[in-house]
Amino acid sequence: MIEGMIKTPFFVVDEEKLLYNLRILKTVREKSGCKILLSQKAFSMYSTYPIISKYLDGTSASGYCEAKLSDEYFEGENHVYEAAFSDDEFPEICQMCDHIVFNSLSQLERHREVWELAKSEKELHIGIRINPEFRTHELNEVYDPCAPGSRFGIRKDIFNNMIPEGVDGIHFHALCEQNFEPLHNIFRNIETNFGWMLKSDQIKWINLGGGHHITRDDYDIISLINFIREIKVKYHLDVYMEPGEAVAIDAGRLVTTVLDIVEASDMNVIIVDASASCHMPDVVEMPYRPPIKNAGEKGEKKYTYRVASKSCLAGDVMGFYSFDNEIQIGDKLEFEDMAMYSMVKTNTFNGMKLPTIAYKKMNGDCQIVKEFGYEDFKSRL
Ligand SMILES: Cc1ncc(COP(=O)(O)O)c(C=O)c1O
Repeated sequence: MIEGMIKTPFFVVDEEKLLYNLRILKTVREKSGCKILLSQKAFSMYSTYPIISKYLDGTSASGYCEAKLSDEYFEGENHVYEAAFSDDEFPEICQMCDHIVFNSLSQLERHREVWELAKSEKELHIGIRINPEFRTHELNEVYDPCAPGSRFGIRKDIFNNMIPEGVDGIHFHALCEQNFEPLHNIFRNIETNFGWMLKSDQIKWINLGGGHHITRDDYDIISLINFIREIKVKYHLDVYMEPGEAVAIDAGRLVTTVLDIVEASDMNVIIVDASASCHMPDVVEMPYRPPIKNAGEKGEKKYTYRVASKSCLAGDVMGFYSFDNEIQIGDKLEFEDMAMYSMVKTNTFNGMKLPTIAYKKMNGDCQIVKEFGYEDFKSRL
């Protein structure tokens, strides 16, 4: 069907853009010899897993359900890391996954009996997450695993120059939407503080986490490829990366309809049939202003509006936007770059329906992947 026939609000993932990202990631894999995993926390639209699995090596999960989704739908490796594994979920995690990363030595030991048993029955790799305590960005602390007081990863002074028995990999994650240089800087710091681990014969692989904006136009891909080759030669390690955003950057939109335009004390407010809080919560949490197709900054074009949700939350506002033409009730507004950290974070607060999920093929044909309704709201309560 054509996109215009789908009832708003809907997320639509563009195959062309997804493939564009995947081709870049595949080139990085092939030229550097690293393995790249889809970090499912950013993008878990599993109907696309058969395509993604042709380009990437596997997935990384941050919880039981993501690990299970990968087990059911993704042809490839299944890595999992959780800040702490629940006792009741852990045995199944051992069955589903091939790489398990522990956040602390106490978690590693608490679950040792279970993972050692699984390891005796199948190929299972055990890693530990380290905390480099090296801040590469001055982001909101909410997004910085190296911020003081962070619970993520084992700090260097906790190790006693001993790698626990059974561990054969290291994981770190400390970047967020960054280019190559911060990765380089953090790795030099890791070499200084954890170099003895990198050199140990016991360690066979390293996972550089996510936050690498590899598919962004200005990313220094050549330096990344050379850097990975260097790690492989210098330390004889298999290198993994687990980007989420880089897989889905700019690969989707949230299409909405203008339901009303109300006069506020300062300017006209557009009310759309979607919600920042329910359908793109990062807009409120991070916070940031999501781009709208063909719209400019406040005052840049002739007609400026505040764009807001139909929910009752006063702060459920997308931001200020300007347009060449006056907006009319019934017009469509498309929020761009909405594939990542959107569908995975939706909720039904205010009794709001979840947006339909659609997939636009290369040939322009649009398929509805899933529609939601009252039952989806009710079944969670
Ligand atoms: C452990 C871990 N790996 C991978 C990612 C994916 O990061 P991104 O989507 O920024 O590439 C995250 C994001 O928070 C993470 O915490």
